[in-house]
Amino acid sequence: MEFPSYRPRRLRKTETMRKMARETELSTDDFILPLFVTYGKGVKKPIKSMPGHFQFSVDNIAGEAEEARSLGIPAVILFGIPERKDDIGSGAIDPNGPVQQAIKAIKDSAPELLVITDVCMCEYTSHGHCGIIVNNDVDNDSTLELLRNAALTHAEAGADMVAPSDMMDGRVAAIRSMLDENGFSRVPIMSYSAKYASAFYGPFREAAESTPQFGDRRSYQMDPSNAEEALREVMLDINEGADIVMVKPALPYLDVIRRIKDRTGYPVAAYSVSGEFSMIKAAAERGWLDGERAMMESLVSIKRAGADMILTYFAKEAAMVLQK
Ligand code: PBG
Repeated sequence: MEFPSYRPRRLRKTETMRKMARETELSTDDFILPLFVTYGKGVKKPIKSMPGHFQFSVDNIAGEAEEARSLGIPAVILFGIPERKDDIGSGAIDPNGPVQQAIKAIKDSAPELLVITDVCMCEYTSHGHCGIIVNNDVDNDSTLELLRNAALTHAEAGADMVAPSDMMDGRVAAIRSMLDENGFSRVPIMSYSAKYASAFYGPFREAAESTPQFGDRRSYQMDPSNAEEALREVMLDINEGADIVMVKPALPYLDVIRRIKDRTGYPVAAYSVSGEFSMIKAAAERGWLDGERAMMESLVSIKRAGADMILTYFAKEAAMVLQK
């Protein structure tokens, strides 16, 4: 079909027409809202580089979760800031740590809200790396022990799903067997399968107080140049028992999302990370772009690329737009 018999603009004439021809529909059901939970009482500390986001203490987190629920957001993912950090991140396996307590608080006040937990060591180690340090690098196999124990404390506290973000080899299998041996065979794993060593995590590291104190994460997170390797990472995680595979960040890696979706047919999550959020916020604050439209366009692009669910700091704002 060629011009002038075919005129693509015909289907763009009115909003009603555009709606009918629309291929991708964004829904609040797709969103997972990240929340930061800290120690202490009565805390709601703004995160400077992420306007509208806070570190909440356990007594304040349920209110935030209820608000998310009332907007129709189905799930939250929790990140913890412990009172004390040490070399081996022992705070991660404290059954009374902020995350473990927050799970209970949220399940009490909004039982139908899915509570997912991030499983990683970087918020808990004094050096800020995602595991135990041996010879100046993160030691894979000893870190697995900590991760599977951390995941177990989350499941015991009532988490609906655990999400390992550390990028150690073999962690999905290690966590799966730990959960299964302890009666949690029905708790799914959402694996951060293709997690890149990205500059876009900057604001998160302020939020979670997890900046590495030496070096960087390139010996465990992926090289941004690689996509074939992402497919191998995903296949490994699926073989080890991952239920959902994740790509992170989202916008710079839409091609990776699409390839994983096409190749595996598995549920794919995309983490639109802190830097993606802060960039749009900062530009909108300066009047350089329309923040609401940029937000919605980014989110629908991630969905169009093949993501079934999107972890996004825009979850509440986008839910409000979708309600209009
Ligand atoms: C922890 C973790 C990070 C993020 C999620 N889990 C940071 C990192 O790897 O440094 C980043 C999320 C974001 O930027 O929004 N391993």
